[in-house]
Amino acid sequence: TTDDPGDLRTPIVAVLGHVDHGKTSLLDKIRGSAVIEGEAGAITQHIGATAVPLDTVSEVAGSLVDPTEFDLPGLLFIDTPGHHSFSTLRSRGGALADIAILVVDVNDGFQPQTEEAVRILKDTGTPFVVAANKVDTTPGWNPNPDSPIQQTYEAQSDRARSDLDEALYELIGEMSDHGFSSDLYWRVQNFQKNVGVIPVSAETGEGVPDLLTVLMGLAQRYMKAEMEVDVAGPGAGTVLEVKDEQGFGKTVDVILYDGTVRSGDTVVVGAQNDPIVTEVRALLKPRELAEIRTEKRFDDVDSMQAAAGLKIAAPDLDDAMPGAPVRVVGDRSVEEVVAEVEAELAEVAVETEEEGVVVKADTLGSLEALVNALEEAEIPVMSAEVGDVAPRDVAMATTVDEDKHHVLLGFNVDVLPAAAEKAENEDVRIFDSDVIYQLVEDYEAFVEERER
Ligand code: GTP
Ligand code: MG
Repeated sequence: TTDDPGDLRTPIVAVLGHVDHGKTSLLDKIRGSAVIEGEAGAITQHIGATAVPLDTVSEVAGSLVDPTEFDLPGLLFIDTPGHHSFSTLRSRGGALADIAILVVDVNDGFQPQTEEAVRILKDTGTPFVVAANKVDTTPGWNPNPDSPIQQTYEAQSDRARSDLDEALYELIGEMSDHGFSSDLYWRVQNFQKNVGVIPVSAETGEGVPDLLTVLMGLAQRYMKAEMEVDVAGPGAGTVLEVKDEQGFGKTVDVILYDGTVRSGDTVVVGAQNDPIVTEVRALLKPRELAEIRTEKRFDDVDSMQAAAGLKIAAPDLDDAMPGAPVRVVGDRSVEEVVAEVEAELAEVAVETEEEGVVVKADTLGSLEALVNALEEAEIPVMSAEVGDVAPRDVAMATTVDEDKHHVLLGFNVDVLPAAAEKAENEDVRIFDSDVIYQLVEDYEAFVEERER
């Protein structure tokens, strides 16, 4: 281990997959097992994230992990609930997550959001493992709670084993259809070439020790260099959500991936128009699970260090944009940092054309992913913005010449009633979906139908 572990930050692990495949349950299990291991206080609930320190990882993983082999401080897991696209988790033109867990219900296999996740993992080059979840639902399964997977697998009946094998091979086949060579993790020699599949149950905890071990091993082996950051330097993060918080007004939920942020710091936050320059009034950290029923939901802290999830309360955050960068100014000039944030936003700025469809998305990251998908499908875009579908977006869609472009594509956004009405009256088609590739396919089908 290093003398100065403070200079290695926690790897960020995104948990993604189709609705109901067990992302949250898996994280609950990891937290719960840790609580049972007597490490309750060590687990910190962050905004949309859970920090699990190395000691706890090794407690849960049991004999599979020797903590002396590691010097990374632990893992920070980010849950991506159904309404949150993984693509929101962007940073500096890439993925915010260092590594990902793709959760797949082993009986259900690949579903639309699984496919979406796999495509984004591929596009961003994010290393990942597959958690083949719900193995306990295999007919005749005899659970051995919290046991490593091979141990419990050996203890099953021939019938249960062969049923599970079949489901796992089907999953490996689906991975291959999507261009990934994968195998059961204990057969994988090189995790940079092959994706490890880890059979687990979020319900019984079987395989969870293996999952933590593989993640820790991957992070330590392949990512250590990237984790060597100046954790005391000026903080950098990504806005996940902009929310009203009683007593604080508008706040931003942020994943901090670099450096430190302190109360009173001047920060620059990416917004719909010019970046916001403001001063941190309060840094809010959710209280520990055990304290959640107390009146005060947050602790006011003086500073936080990457990697972490936190809420920032500051004046003038109304126009902050989900998916946009947040930067602590530190001892640089405000102009320099504003320019940096503008440059990062410009990276995402869309090449728009005079003729094309109007695009809206919930966050900067998902807008970027949607526009890329449209570009790949050679569908021109006339305008692309973050936010709900409003009447003025509909008005925009009527300004193009070609009828097939009198179309609005919305990803993970609400269509305001007035906008729906205007669209109806002015013959603008609105497609909305929470699957990017669904929108592309729907639009292509619409064009084909019209041209018939
Ligand atoms: P969204 O956040 O809506 O996308 O879903 P999710 O992926 O977080 O799924 P969640 O953890 O909420 O689980 C969905 C359902 O599956 C719940 O009823 C869980 O109890 C159940 N479930 C999750 N994991 C397992 C498992 O390993 N075994 C069994 N039997 N049920 C599970
Ligand atoms: Mg969930």
